[in-house]
Amino acid sequence: MTKLHVSNHPLVRHKLTLLRDKNTDHRSFRELMRELALLLCYEATQDLQLSPKVVETPMGSANGFKAEESIGVVPVLRAGLGMLEGVMQLLPNVQVWHIGLYRDEETLRPVQYYNRLPEKTSVQICLILDPMLATGGSAAATVDLLKNVGVERIKYIGLIAAPEGVERLSKAHPDVPIYLASLDERLNDVGFIVPGLGDAGDRQFGT
Ligand code: PRP
Repeated sequence: MTKLHVSNHPLVRHKLTLLRDKNTDHRSFRELMRELALLLCYEATQDLQLSPKVVETPMGSANGFKAEESIGVVPVLRAGLGMLEGVMQLLPNVQVWHIGLYRDEETLRPVQYYNRLPEKTSVQICLILDPMLATGGSAAATVDLLKNVGVERIKYIGLIAAPEGVERLSKAHPDVPIYLASLDERLNDVGFIVPGLGDAGDRQFGT
């Protein structure tokens, strides 16, 4: 069964409110996306596996840990790009696999226009980055692509979602946990999340 994690961290709530505000300019929007992605990535990586590691401090030996798992990060273009930098600040050694999808405005179905996935996976876990989980079509298609190259552990990190999107992704891929800053009310009749934040791609890139 899918695990849905909606952050209740005060900084996430504060920053998401600023992100939603229609008066937030592009520059601040990008900065907030970066910060929110970092905070949600911190929450989504709580179960990463560690191995023991001893280090020498100036005062002697200390028993510590080393994060062991190899990670792939999958930003879904365009909007997911704004989450990449924050995630890479926490996880500087990840592989980045770009996927380009846009949603057809009439059918609301995802259309793929770019794919830089390897033919076979060499990572143990993949983190999908996309701020908006609306109908869930793009997220489910991205998970399909990752499973096709052999990725076994996948997590979805978004910012906001409609219940319809969560339901679709969870039904299609119950093994993929979903990390969000907010679960919003609904989709409107043109497939936008309400109250949402508008179009995350347009607001980042000024289009
Ligand atoms: C948005 C968003 C998701 C998708 C979500 O992308 O970033 O990828 O829509 O919708 P869904 O859950 O109904 O599939 P968009 O098509 O606006 O492209 P963009 O990121 O290039 O602006």
